[in-house]
Amino acid sequence: MNHDKGRADERREQGTESVDGLPATLYDRVHAAAQAIRERSDFMPKVGLILGSGLGGFAESFDTPVAIDYGDIPHFPRSHVVGHKGRLVLGTRGGTCCVAMQGRVHMYEGHSAATAAFPARVLVALGAQVIIVTNAAGGLNPTWQPGTLMLIRDHIDLLRDHALRGPNDERLGPRFPDMTHAYAPELRSLVRDVADTAKIPLQEGVYVAMPGPTYETPAEVRMLQTLGADATGMSTVPEVCVARHMGARVIGISCITNQAAGITGQALSHEEVTETANRVRATFEGLLDRILAALVARGELR
Ligand code: HPA
Repeated sequence: MNHDKGRADERREQGTESVDGLPATLYDRVHAAAQAIRERSDFMPKVGLILGSGLGGFAESFDTPVAIDYGDIPHFPRSHVVGHKGRLVLGTRGGTCCVAMQGRVHMYEGHSAATAAFPARVLVALGAQVIIVTNAAGGLNPTWQPGTLMLIRDHIDLLRDHALRGPNDERLGPRFPDMTHAYAPELRSLVRDVADTAKIPLQEGVYVAMPGPTYETPAEVRMLQTLGADATGMSTVPEVCVARHMGARVIGISCITNQAAGITGQALSHEEVTETANRVRATFEGLLDRILAALVARGELR
């Protein structure tokens, strides 16, 4: 009994667990999910969007959208967080072919980093060359007010699992991916340009991923500030790691929904996070729109 469980765990970790009685590698599962999506839409997305708290609505305004519940996609994990919809939407926005995740799963729900990042792999397998990942985050920089948008320059991974842990499948990517340019410098420059032109205030900084689900303690916040991080959140890093593994370029943007614990002395709440995310939504969506247009105009999409 225990032996069987041990072997099942081992197979899962190695990416060779059985699916419907058929052995499947991680590679097979990614492509089975992509194939099931292609059967619903022959659309070829060039940009993948991972829409964090409050931003899911962005995909509602796609032209000719096709929405697919995560539950209808083989191997997709489901998200249980209130306000996270759990649908994939394919469609065009401003002439750019996009696939958007309305909601994501988090490691604090009990998922491994690899499982939390699985949908991002599927976006790349569908054809996304650029992944735009968004999130809500706590501000570590005491001068940033809630509602600030932060372009992610780099990240620090303090999660206790890694999305690429386990045997590597070279068909997906290399064993040791370089992270020097995890957030493509030329795309960061593009985002700064469009924000400047549109007069959308935009900070740039380092995102640190914490496991959650508790918010940080004030002592942890001081530690993270010392480490050189500007914003703290509970997502994003696993998705960025798999996107880089598979060769997609990444743009990351955080909405600073609150000042991190201990900075103001006020207790943090999920309500504050969602309220700020909703308040900033129109500005954030405007920025995303302009980024999508600029990616096309500047020939960043093949
Ligand atoms: N900490 C971690 N994650 C978060 C926060 C925070 O303060 N705000 C929104 N997501």
